[in-house]
Amino acid sequence: MIKTLNIPFTYKELDSPEELNPDDRELLFSAREVALKAYAPYSGFMVGAAVRLSSGKIILGTNVENAAFPSGICAERNALSNASSNHPEDKPVAMAVAAMTNAGLSANTVSPCGNCRQVIAEEEFRNGANIRIILSGRNKIQIIDKGGDLLPLQFNSDNLKFSPH
Ligand code: THU
Repeated sequence: MIKTLNIPFTYKELDSPEELNPDDRELLFSAREVALKAYAPYSGFMVGAAVRLSSGKIILGTNVENAAFPSGICAERNALSNASSNHPEDKPVAMAVAAMTNAGLSANTVSPCGNCRQVIAEEEFRNGANIRIILSGRNKIQIIDKGGDLLPLQFNSDNLKFSPH
């Protein structure tokens, strides 16, 4: 019998950073600021990510591109790797992402790529804690309460467990 299942996905949309709570607003402005430090000579697309740890600390990352294109890495993974390497006991609870070009902040929100979604999901799984994702464009902000919701039917460490039948 074929069943059709539905995975609900809800998120919030805001018009302006003023509508964010003060902590999330600070996180978003940190992501926008660090985007200026991106190394993105090939795409010209400069991305900043700011991760809030449960202690309140903010950890930053940018995309870092490479002449061998696949060797480049996204801002989100750089920020999460930085957090995990330097603060392994302090779990990420939120992450803001912002992007800009020479023309200024991106008009649309920038959403994490598939690789980054997988890494966000692993962090949530590992820490047993949701990571709130705050995406921003020039005139729009989106909040996803649990980053793993961006990756339905995700592969995780449970899938690696061997179960005979
Ligand atoms: N990029 C990120 O850093 N994060 C995203 O969410 C989307 C894409 C980077 C990868 C590459 O350096 C550039 O943006 C263009 O894809």
